[in-house]
Amino acid sequence: MKIAVIGMGYVGLVSAVVWTNLGHTVIGVENNSEKLQRLLAGEAPFFEPGLHSALAEAMQSGRLTFVETLVADSTLELVFICVGTPIGVDGLLNDQYLLESARMVGMLGDANLQVVIKSTVLPKMSDKVLEEVRLGCEERGLVFKGGVYFSPEFLSEGSALRDTLAPSRVVLGGEGLDQENLVVKFFKSVTPEAVPIVITDIRSAELSKLAANAMLASRISFINELALVADKVGGDINLVAKIIGLDPRIGPNFLKAGVGFGGGCFPKDTNSLINYAKTIGIKTGLLEAVVEVNQQAVIGFYNRVVSAFGDPVGKRLGILGLAYKEGTDDLRSAPALEIIERWRNAGGMVVAFDPLVVKIQAEKLGITSLDDATAVLSQADLLMVLTAEPEFINLDWERVSALYHGEIIGDGRRLYLAKVVNKAGFKLIT
Ligand code: UDX
Repeated sequence: MKIAVIGMGYVGLVSAVVWTNLGHTVIGVENNSEKLQRLLAGEAPFFEPGLHSALAEAMQSGRLTFVETLVADSTLELVFICVGTPIGVDGLLNDQYLLESARMVGMLGDANLQVVIKSTVLPKMSDKVLEEVRLGCEERGLVFKGGVYFSPEFLSEGSALRDTLAPSRVVLGGEGLDQENLVVKFFKSVTPEAVPIVITDIRSAELSKLAANAMLASRISFINELALVADKVGGDINLVAKIIGLDPRIGPNFLKAGVGFGGGCFPKDTNSLINYAKTIGIKTGLLEAVVEVNQQAVIGFYNRVVSAFGDPVGKRLGILGLAYKEGTDDLRSAPALEIIERWRNAGGMVVAFDPLVVKIQAEKLGITSLDDATAVLSQADLLMVLTAEPEFINLDWERVSALYHGEIIGDGRRLYLAKVVNKAGFKLIT
């Protein structure tokens, strides 16, 4: 099929590449000229494992092209909207880019076009998209006869290609989604047979995305709260998580305690859901606590480490791991940023290393980014490890002893055993 994907972010670009390599013809639409230039040069604007070679393969096939704006094309069958919906000043998701894309589709697309929203939305935003597409058509004297559907995206950064090729489920929300519907046919063509395709009403589909993220965020805050109890009484929260995770009703995932969740989705989606619920007269007390515990996860960690260390004035904090988690170069809502700000405000300096965050990206944020962990270890007065990159998990403690002159290891991901760290001559703070 010939499809267009609007917005070349994590969701849009990865989907465009994967679907091209599965045999479809894809037009990737990106209105940020810097990003577009990089894409036209065959370069992904962000790091994602496997994306570089998958993008090269897709471009070589001749079936993937990138453009700045959609152009009228009667052979286009499906349009996916994957633009960002950042949190606005009102605490709700900003639908500006979504509605601009919808209007563009309405003004240029065929009146029978099928439009699938993949951007995260708050309830009823899909209806506004439909309205904009209709209005766009109306301006050309046409009556929109196609459909607008919502298909939540559940991919994680760091495993985006794998998640797109083999998702845990595909959800399609909207009306008229029978087996003959083009959207259903398309998703069947790109989804392994074993993966359930859930067809539902649009409201439930919209909510399912927010609910999935809120549920996962709740598990993280739950385990972070319990970690405080475990630390006080001398238990090991990693073992507690392992034990409760063996219960099939609970399961092992998303029970890793640490500096809390960050990234482009969890903080934004949980907060906007809380604020949206308020607008319809519902208080989401549980989610409010999830957000508060998450803020405390990073602040509490910082305070514990710094009170054991002493005054930051004139001291150099060494950070291993800048991104919001391992496997990505994404710095959005990264716990490292909160920690760096606090340390600097207290008069300290910062050096850091992250194997995926490129120097320019870190330096844009005023962070001195070093070439490797060795450089950080040898310059730091205090060390904090903030992501679970394999090379940080497997630190060579003999080398750490030889290079690092500080006394404390702040372990923001609970990667290390106290006895190992103590044996190397350091005090472990989690
Ligand atoms: C998340 C959802 O998983 C995905 O389905 C959705 O589409 C987008 O948001 P992502 O942000 O890529 O994906 O990362 P994820 O691996 O889910 O981690 C989110 C945050 O939670 C990270 O900051 C991570 O470090 C933290 N986390 C995750 C924990 O602190 N503990 C855990 O056990 C798991």
